[in-house]
Amino acid sequence: MAFKLDCVVPWGRNMEEYRLMFRLSENDLSKKIAGFGDGPACFNRELTERGGSVTSFDIIYQFSKEDIEKRIDEVRVEVMEQMRRNKENYVWTRFKSLDELESTRMSAMRKFLEDYDKGKLEGRYVFHKLPNRLPYENDHFDLGLSSHFLLMYTALGYDFHIAAITEMLRVCKEIRIFPIVDLDAEKTELTSKVIKHFGENFRVDIVKTDYEFQKGDNKMLVIEKER
Ligand SMILES: C[S@@+](CC[C@H](N)C(=O)[O-])C[C@H]1O[C@@H](n2cnc3c(N)ncnc32)[C@H](O)[C@@H]1O
Repeated sequence: MAFKLDCVVPWGRNMEEYRLMFRLSENDLSKKIAGFGDGPACFNRELTERGGSVTSFDIIYQFSKEDIEKRIDEVRVEVMEQMRRNKENYVWTRFKSLDELESTRMSAMRKFLEDYDKGKLEGRYVFHKLPNRLPYENDHFDLGLSSHFLLMYTALGYDFHIAAITEMLRVCKEIRIFPIVDLDAEKTELTSKVIKHFGENFRVDIVKTDYEFQKGDNKMLVIEKER
């Protein structure tokens, strides 16, 4: 069955948030980076403008700019209403209010939309569905990132996660996943099982980050190939 855009909630963060979530150093930012499930985040645009190398993969990149823009407008009200209802579950230091949050998110997504057609032509936004095989040789990328996608959507299941992370680790020397809790910021059996699985053949670490918006979301999972 064809994938429908109204099944996803496109919502995007900016480069400063990626930098904090993944503890990205200047050295990291100079690496060849892959972003998995980057959606309408403007990390790709901002890093490209600084001369960095980043390729973003997402199922929504099969759609046109107009379709993605329309879907963002549709989900905006719903997402902000959910945030309003769950306001006490968030740390309001980075963003001081719901209005500030909404304008930061909308600004990030507008930056993405302005860059989308150009980035597609340049091969920076690639339609791809994990865990399908990526058209790259082993270790093509230095660093793979997944923000607010893997480990968070527990409903995708253990097998999906093992297959998706295995493929990411085939094309990336190292991957970082943030956060490591579910949509309710609860610890999950999925994360423990993923750590156990990859811990057998890779170096696996849980690293505290400088980013915490949903209370308890302040750690990333780092999986590296042993050198
Ligand atoms: C909540 S958004 C996160 C966007 C961005 N990473 C950020 O943090 O701002 C999750 C993204 O995962 C993408 N996604 C969901 N399932 C996917 C799959 N199987 N393969 C690739 N991308 C997927 C969605 O389309 C969506 O853009």
